[in-house]
Amino acid sequence: MAFRGLFDFFQSDSKLDEKLGLTEKQKRLVQSTWATVRKDEVSVGVALLLAYFKEYPDDQKQFKSFKDVPLDELSKNKRFQAHAVNIVATLGKVIEQMHDPELMEASLINLTEKHKNRGQTQKQFENLKQVILNLFPSLFGKQYTPDVQEAWKKTLDLTFSKMYQVFVD
Ligand code: HEM
Repeated sequence: MAFRGLFDFFQSDSKLDEKLGLTEKQKRLVQSTWATVRKDEVSVGVALLLAYFKEYPDDQKQFKSFKDVPLDELSKNKRFQAHAVNIVATLGKVIEQMHDPELMEASLINLTEKHKNRGQTQKQFENLKQVILNLFPSLFGKQYTPDVQEAWKKTLDLTFSKMYQVFVD
C-alpha cells in the first residue's frame, strides 16, 4: 500500500517537472494535442509559415529556394512545403524530447545557432512564437481548452527562452 501511494505520487498529474516548469498533466496535454498536428504536418506547417510571411513579408527574402514566389502561390510550392514540414517536424522532435530536458535544450541550441549564423535574429524568433500562439486556437479548435492553452504557453515560453540564449552576447 505504501509503495502504491508512492507510485501514485510520482505519477500524479500535479507533479512538477522542475527542469521544464511543467506539470505531468501539462506535458501530457502538449504531447496529446501535438498528435493532431503530426497527422497533417504539411497543412499545419504551410498555415504557420504563410501566416508568418503575411505579417512579415520581408522575411521571405531570406529563403533562397522560394524567395521570389508570390505569396498566393506559396502554399502549392513544394520547396516551400518542404520547409514548412521541416519546421513542424523539428518542433515535434523537441516536444518528444521533453522526457530529457538536456537533450531538448541541446537540440534547440543547435537549431538556433544555425539560424544565428545565417543571420536570423531573436526578434524574428519572437515574432514566430507569437504567430504560433495566434494560430493555435484555430488549429486545435475545441481541444484548445484553457488548460491546454496554459500548457502550450508555458512550453513555448520555455522552448523559445532556450533559443534566445544563443542570441545573448
Ligand atoms: C521554432 C522556430 C524554428 C524552427 C523549428 C526552424 C526550423 C528550421 C529548420 C529545421 C531548418 C533547416 C535546417 C537549418 O538550416 O537550420 C531551417 C532553415 C531556415 N530557417 Fe528556420 N526555424 C525556425 C525559425 C526561423 C525563423 C524565425 C526564421 C526567420 C525568418 C527562420 C529562417 C530560416 C531560414 C532562412 C532557413 C534556411 C532556408 C534555406 O535553406 O534557404 N527560421 N529552419
